Amino acid sequence: MTHAHDRLLIIDFGSQVTQLIARRLRELRVYCEIHPYNRVDEAFLRAFAPRAVILSGGPASVNAPGAPMPPAGVFDLGVPILGICYGQQVMMHVLGGRVEGGHGTAEFGRALVTPTGETLPLLEGWFQSGPEQVWMSHGDHVSRLAPGFRVYGTSPNAPYAITADPDRRFYAVQFHPEVHHTPRGARLYENFVRLAGFTGDWTMAGYREDAIAKIRAQVGDRRVICGLSGGVDSSVAAVLIHQAIGDQLTCVFVDNGLLRLNEAEQVVTMFRDAYNIPLIHADESALFLGALEGVSDPEVKRKTIGRLFIDVFQKYASQIEGAEFLAQGTLYPDVIESVSFAGGPSVTIKSHHNVGGLPEKMGLKLVEPLRELFKDEVRELGRELGLPESFIGRHPFPGPGLAIRCPGEVTAERLDILRRADAVYIDQIRRHGLYDDIWQAFAAILPMRTVGVMGDGRTYDYAVALRAVTSVDGMTADYYPFTHDFLGETATRIINEVRGVNRVFYDCTSKPPGTIEME
Ligand code: XMP
Repeated sequence: MTHAHDRLLIIDFGSQVTQLIARRLRELRVYCEIHPYNRVDEAFLRAFAPRAVILSGGPASVNAPGAPMPPAGVFDLGVPILGICYGQQVMMHVLGGRVEGGHGTAEFGRALVTPTGETLPLLEGWFQSGPEQVWMSHGDHVSRLAPGFRVYGTSPNAPYAITADPDRRFYAVQFHPEVHHTPRGARLYENFVRLAGFTGDWTMAGYREDAIAKIRAQVGDRRVICGLSGGVDSSVAAVLIHQAIGDQLTCVFVDNGLLRLNEAEQVVTMFRDAYNIPLIHADESALFLGALEGVSDPEVKRKTIGRLFIDVFQKYASQIEGAEFLAQGTLYPDVIESVSFAGGPSVTIKSHHNVGGLPEKMGLKLVEPLRELFKDEVRELGRELGLPESFIGRHPFPGPGLAIRCPGEVTAERLDILRRADAVYIDQIRRHGLYDDIWQAFAAILPMRTVGVMGDGRTYDYAVALRAVTSVDGMTADYYPFTHDFLGETATRIINEVRGVNRVFYDCTSKPPGTIEME
């Protein structure tokens, strides 16, 4: 079988950091896919036709009964193979070496690897100024090399830290080159893909062409529905699918009344007018706000919004005649995280939080053109598709929208104040050139009124809290250190420009212990 790009196969044995291997390779413009060890067999290997294979780390011991093993035939493909940690151990085990566990063999944390003196293409650029720092995390270790292998680097606890059979182009290391704690690990991946003959041909322009061809092949002349939230993922998916199949795509944009100032108009203008994508603007704000009346418990709010969203989406989608497919902006991390090792053959793929359960309920098949991409690659694809930078770089916005920035009851009055305060705050951030330094910034309206004095009069108005955080992935976050001048100026502007607010707080809680959103 021929593929448009050279492909690298990562066989996953369950390491926590396997995704990072894929990241490092994508940075080198090498196309790779991660597949769990128990879902690859000889037929799969033939069809995948990898130019190289990486065997990941994993928590198991190769000597344990039922230990995960690589697929038969992988060592006969004639392609370079790199084993990492458990991947190294399994290589030795299968190819005739020995692995031992037990007391005194474990090693966790930083270690220094020194070279044995022999040169190896995998190690080009390494050891130029002495030993290299690496990250070890293993219980067992190799105690005898498989025939043909030699040792190229050692650490105090891992005499076989770097091993290879250069003739067969098999390489095996005990440490994890993909993590930050192996500061120069990326160089090993670079060397590995170069010696395997990869040319770095995996570009976004190429991805776009492939994705368009795949969508056309999958959909044929049938119709696709896409739930558009205004977020980057669903927008990129919609524009890509529209470029592939034109007006066979209809987007449904559910306006739940919990969007930011002018957001609904912006989405409609951009997709309907600028991109000419058939778009149903489902203005159901009255329905959502009605259902939220009297609700102040955060979980009840979230569940109410989630349930209504599905009902509403289904109502509009069922009006689109002959639709057979539902498009989703599922990303690669969602796909990998949902693969379960213990769970046997039933691979569960996470449903998009907004449309969970819908495909089955409506008998729709899925179109997921972003399944192979990481978040930053989706942004790159968005640029490739010509989406405006101001849109691609937008801060994340949660599915439940402003409801979770409105602690206490969500009312039209409080939402209106919140929207205007948020718009002033974001405008301040943009004016000061800080938007791209911040992961996420927003205003929240607090469930309290306080006394103030404006002019000669007493006020009794709402208090607004401002939040801004830096983060890599939203899992942890630090509050953003604005200057006092910035905060003072912003508070003054909000109070002057937004009627109903007379006090502004800045939230200096990091995550943990706080969360990014208020609810
Ligand atoms: P927390 O508040 O959990 O938020 O620290 C982490 C990130 O996730 C976003 N978030 C959501 N996104 N649906 C979403 O699509 C949700 O229900 C949801 N809740 C939180 C939040 O904005 C932040 O970026």
